[in-house]
Amino acid sequence: MKRAVLLLLMLGMSPAQAGTEKPPSAGYVKWQEECGSCHVAYPPHMLSPENWQSLMGGLDKHFGSNAVLDTRDNKKILDFLKRFAGSGEKYAASSLRISDTPWFRREHRSIAAKEWTNPDVRSRSNCSACHGKNVLGS
Ligand code: HEC
Ligand code: HEC
Repeated sequence: MKRAVLLLLMLGMSPAQAGTEKPPSAGYVKWQEECGSCHVAYPPHMLSPENWQSLMGGLDKHFGSNAVLDTRDNKKILDFLKRFAGSGEKYAASSLRISDTPWFRREHRSIAAKEWTNPDVRSRSNCSACHGKNVLGS
């Protein structure tokens, strides 16, 4: 199995969603590198194309961090994210947080408030605390 496909499976994405490209696109590779350095590389299908566009347009003020990229890398990553983005209201949030989308809230509705504030979790954005490093959604 190609390494890219394996990585996508570990992220809980089906190859049909993003990994059928051979070889993996420059956008995919950049996304892994740049967007996986501070947190897990949040999968494209979990947010709408409009939300990715806004997020990639504001990387200088990225949730209190500076995650700015040069223009070419930004475009490569944005193209990749939009190509495999989720569609519809349930993958959209004005905060640009996956963890605020209707989809996320529904999937996690059984989780008690105290789980989110557990010192080992701290933030709903900290997917890997509960899902492991490479098994988002699987
Ligand atoms: C310099 C570190 C850094 C880099 C690089 C970075 N981020 Fe982030 N990102 C953060 C921080 C900090 C948060 C807020 C985490 C929290 O609230 O616990 C965040 C949150 C997010 C969220 C919202 C998570 C949620 O709650 O659903 C998304 C989506 C996101 N980042 C996407 C990206 C993408 C796409 C890239 C690559 C272009 C990227 N990040 C690169 C630091 C970074
Ligand atoms: C406090 C722990 C916790 C955090 C943090 C968390 N999740 Fe979950 N997540 C769960 C649990 C538990 C379930 C199963 C809920 C159920 O079946 O009722 C779940 C379900 C899911 C599912 C549905 C498929 C499955 O595995 O059951 C996906 C996809 C998912 N989470 C992705 C994410 C993403 C992406 C993030 C970060 C933005 C995240 N989760 C953060 C605990 C967490």
